[in-house]
Amino acid sequence: MYLSEYLSKNCEDTSLNKVIINLSIAANKISKVIRNLNNDINIKGVSKTKNFDGDIQKPLDILSDEMLMELMRNAPVSGYASEEQEGFVDLKNDHDLIVIADPLDGSSNIDVNVSIGTIFSIMSQNNLPLEHAFLQKGSKQKAAGFFVYGPQITLFLTFGKGTIAFGLDENKSEFILINDKIKIPKSTSEFAINASYSRFWDKATSNYIKDCQEGKDGPKGKDFGMRWVGSLVADASRIFNRGGIFLYPSDKRLKNKQGRLRLTYEANPLAMLIKEAGGKATNGIKDILDVEVEDIHQRSPLIFGSSEEVEEFIYYSKNL
Ligand code: AHG
Ligand code: MN
Ligand code: MN
Repeated sequence: MYLSEYLSKNCEDTSLNKVIINLSIAANKISKVIRNLNNDINIKGVSKTKNFDGDIQKPLDILSDEMLMELMRNAPVSGYASEEQEGFVDLKNDHDLIVIADPLDGSSNIDVNVSIGTIFSIMSQNNLPLEHAFLQKGSKQKAAGFFVYGPQITLFLTFGKGTIAFGLDENKSEFILINDKIKIPKSTSEFAINASYSRFWDKATSNYIKDCQEGKDGPKGKDFGMRWVGSLVADASRIFNRGGIFLYPSDKRLKNKQGRLRLTYEANPLAMLIKEAGGKATNGIKDILDVEVEDIHQRSPLIFGSSEEVEEFIYYSKNL
């Protein structure tokens, strides 16, 4: 079944449907730029610009942002915000929906032909001025999802009735349903963390990972494997398929005191998808979806995945 047909059967909100369809059109275009080696832009190009936060912007970051914004202008959306722009864009209309995006997640993997993606979060403006609407908590999201540009182009989507996966049929340029009820296994023996930062970790993270590494002979009593792609969308996609725990905790580096990932366009959409698939997402203390938002670009620790393992991490966090 095609995405448009699935939405018209299962999601009554026609404005939301239109926004999701336009996001899928943008993702289709972005994926073509990534796959086509004969582009006008050099997607592997060295960037000349940095975003307001000092992150290096690659040509593909900027192009993806422009493509998304263009498609959002033609959808019932009143405001758009993204990792690539400091403030939000007021689309100057009286529509109700707002969209926040990470246009290109995993930019460090563009050059090495490893999966990258686009993450999005959709909320109602709820009659608030836009500057306040963008600061609503993750629990207010109406829909969230991400596209993965990998060996297959996939979409993980939720509009509050479970988490669903679609894959792109490139001949027809349409997304087709591949799983209408994703369930993340409760237990796992696979963790994902960038272990090169272990010297910066807090006690909870150090102890939890040490216990995983001790395997069968340690307190957890089972052997663990480790994966780290370096693209949140790719690590999350693996966890939706076979379970696992992902950890990007806060650490002692000045820039990462509040974690590295962004709350509104990375942690929140992931947390809604994870919750709808039966998993858990936390900052170590609080459910991600309940964290107050003070800034569109606020960072947050993010730990998510199989519920039993995430609960165990929370136990380490609260008792150390
Ligand atoms: P972005 O490319 O949008 O800035 O996000 C990259 C993020 C995320 O995709 C990934 O999980 C994380 O950065 C990797 O961080 P490290 O390079 O510190 O491992
Ligand atoms: Mn990102
Ligand atoms: Mn990005």
